[in-house]
Amino acid sequence: MDMPSNLSNSAPASAALYDRARRVMPGGSTRVTIWWPPHPPYAASGQGCRITDADGRVLLDFANNFFSLIHGHAHPEIVAAVTAQAARGLAFGLPTELDVALAEEICARAPALQRVRFCNSGTEAVMFAVKAARGATGRSMVAKMEGGYHGAYDPMEVSFDSGPSNWGERIPAAVPYTRGTPASVLDETLVLPFNDWPITEALIEAHAGRLAAVVLDPLPSRVGLVPGTPEYLQGIQALCRRHGIMLILDEVVCFRLHPGGAQTLFGLSPDYTALGKIIGGGQPVGAVAGTAEAMAVFDSTLGHRAIVPHGGTFSANPITMAAGLTSLRLLTPEAHARLDLLGERLRTTLARGFARDGIAAQVTGAGSLFRVHPHTRPIAGYRDALATAAEASWLKEAFGHLLAHGVLTTPNISGALSTPMTVAEIDEAADAIIAALRETA
Ligand SMILES: Cc1ncc(COP(=O)(O)O)c(C=O)c1O
Repeated sequence: MDMPSNLSNSAPASAALYDRARRVMPGGSTRVTIWWPPHPPYAASGQGCRITDADGRVLLDFANNFFSLIHGHAHPEIVAAVTAQAARGLAFGLPTELDVALAEEICARAPALQRVRFCNSGTEAVMFAVKAARGATGRSMVAKMEGGYHGAYDPMEVSFDSGPSNWGERIPAAVPYTRGTPASVLDETLVLPFNDWPITEALIEAHAGRLAAVVLDPLPSRVGLVPGTPEYLQGIQALCRRHGIMLILDEVVCFRLHPGGAQTLFGLSPDYTALGKIIGGGQPVGAVAGTAEAMAVFDSTLGHRAIVPHGGTFSANPITMAAGLTSLRLLTPEAHARLDLLGERLRTTLARGFARDGIAAQVTGAGSLFRVHPHTRPIAGYRDALATAAEASWLKEAFGHLLAHGVLTTPNISGALSTPMTVAEIDEAADAIIAALRETA
């Protein structure tokens, strides 16, 4: 993708930083998701819903560090909590009251969130949930959705970016994401087609005796950011119950959909819930939560070593706990309701604008999440959502245009709202997104 010249030419400070980065990082980047040609703008500071980059340009931020900053940047109460804790100590080889308090805050939010173990990323949260499910069942196979993203754990990367050349017929093939993925990982990962109940049911039934868990994100962003139908979600939960398969709900992103998480919104009662992003208030975080019975595999007080030992030098570090606790306490039901209304306004304005201007695009999402698709196919799952090469190149160009006009989303033009936003920022972003797609069509 060629970035519009006004961005690359007017960003000498970011260009200089990227030059330095190329000498010390492969490709000049340390995160695949935040690199694009010729280079991303480098952030200097953030305040509320705006970021100032190294060249002094101000960006309206809908990326919110990949949906983790629900209160935007430098929220005064979060900054105060983190600063106060930093002065008391960054981390200890001991638990603190803060981890108890954040666990209590999470457990108060839904009946199936009865026990919590903290870690440092969503990747780890899903990984430990899978290990817990294996420990609880004594089985090793896990099921996940085609196209579903759950972080960088080997089995969770299977078929993450499969395409028409390798995804198989209606029954999805298990496609490795990185070269050298062990064949055993592919053999132990069952790939399901999201929202295709007959195939999903048949596949789970056929592998029930081997399956430790089904990993399910009810509003999976890479699959299309469309929700699972009630029949699909409830059907999977019922099948899991019937066969003693653990249901792992990945709420790393969709916990922001409701004060009680997506499980409350969709009426689900998972054995394990993988959490991350917003529960850390902007700091690195992950957590496995679940029923007391399912979480007992982590318990080392039962007279034997824990079935699934879990530690981590920085797990439950007090800086993250302080930020997360403050952030969740700020996230009142009223704050949720306001974000949902703003999200609805953004999606509706975009849909109307695309229709009005004859733009062959659509928007999906729910609550404070949205994603723009460079096509108008009805989307039930990954295969409908996946952009063709031509569609993907239009989206990339539109992203470049949007950024050049001061709005930051993820590179596939998805985003998450933050509480500092008002109707003015929503309408500003909607206008900019519509213009970006129109001008690059
Ligand atoms: C649904 C989902 N699960 C898990 C993860 C992994 O989280 P992390 O990047 O904190 O490892 C992500 C990250 O975007 C995600 O979107």
